[in-house]
Amino acid sequence: MKKTLADIDVKRKKVLVRVDYNVPVDANLKIINDKRIMSTLPTIEYLLKKNAAIILMSHLGRPKGKVIPEMSLKPVADRLGEVLGKPVKFVGGDCVSDESKKAAKDLKPGQILLLENLRFHPEEEGKNAAGEKDKPSMNAFAKELASLCEVFVQDAFGTVHRSHASTAGIVKYIKDAAVGFLVEKELKFLGEALENPVRPFLAILGGAKVSDKINVIENLLDKVDSIIIGGAMAYTFLKAQGVSTGVSLVEDGKLDLALDLLKTAKERKVNFLLPVDHVITNKVDFVSKSMPSDAVVETTIDEAICNGFMGVDIGIKSIEKFAEVVKSVKTIVWNGPLGIFEIDEFSKGTVEIAKMVADATDEGAISVVGGGDSVSAVKKVGVDKRISHISTGGGASLEFLEGKDLPGIAILPDKK
Ligand code: 3PG
Repeated sequence: MKKTLADIDVKRKKVLVRVDYNVPVDANLKIINDKRIMSTLPTIEYLLKKNAAIILMSHLGRPKGKVIPEMSLKPVADRLGEVLGKPVKFVGGDCVSDESKKAAKDLKPGQILLLENLRFHPEEEGKNAAGEKDKPSMNAFAKELASLCEVFVQDAFGTVHRSHASTAGIVKYIKDAAVGFLVEKELKFLGEALENPVRPFLAILGGAKVSDKINVIENLLDKVDSIIIGGAMAYTFLKAQGVSTGVSLVEDGKLDLALDLLKTAKERKVNFLLPVDHVITNKVDFVSKSMPSDAVVETTIDEAICNGFMGVDIGIKSIEKFAEVVKSVKTIVWNGPLGIFEIDEFSKGTVEIAKMVADATDEGAISVVGGGDSVSAVKKVGVDKRISHISTGGGASLEFLEGKDLPGIAILPDKK
């Protein structure tokens, strides 16, 4: 168990908090979704109560070591100020410029400063100005960041899978460090689901490629009682077993691997569920994510897909079959959509899964949803408040499910 914010003394101290304010912004630099900002409020409000001087730092986008004005964190400082009802200081340009350092030095208890985008510095990602790997430069940058504070708090769950200066590098230059309340909550839900699940335990995995989720499936086969596979991944598993899949997205190079995973599931007595019917079409515009007006859409009678057609969603029989399992379990981890969720006509499977996961949670199950599209699904359906925990980390929650050590967490001190 990692030391948490409540375990350390932050009273009237200068506290540097790594947050993940990598929020979507539109062409007018308006924040489209502020969930990541809102998720850091418990930590910030606690620090305000303790009269700490709060320095926040984050990345936004992938500017690759260059100053890209459109990727400035200024709109985030403004939004956070609105939400908190108090000014959030912001120094543009460079997070470790003399001006930024002075702002950090002069910061009084109860005040908040947000530093400019960390990734305007190549050193944040372990590189030098020439774009080459350069650990000493990364360490020097981490040390400069560390010099701004007395205490470091890691609350950027979405970024803890990155071994960057502000996530892992900084810790060795800090006297006192802990995880913030957001990271603590993420670790509690994801950790308990994986290490100590109330059984039966079900994982629902969707998405396009088996190759993106192999490690997750392998790790989960050791832990779950049932696993539901949807999305285009399912077609690779079906084809591997000799089922016709038409022109569905299939990873032909992964057919043997799919068979191995099925064999492992059988050996470990894991109930491995694949769709038993599909919504299919002969045409999809994958670029604009839309259905051409002359496309033919049908539902198959079983798992086979005929020539010239591709699977784009799970069918009604699959939804009913999966619902039986979802109803009967006590822990659910869901990552990835079950069809082409962005196209309304092919979103029913994902929508129905979202509803059934929420219903199961109402009946006492613990549900954890991660991954961009599955999170969008529960929101679109309006059931997000009924889910036990929605992860703020896409890549990070996936790496957690893979059983990997997250560098931004692993390096932090354990509770005494
Ligand atoms: C995310 O949005 O997944 C995190 O902020 C990490 O961003 P990255 O993938 O650019 O490192």
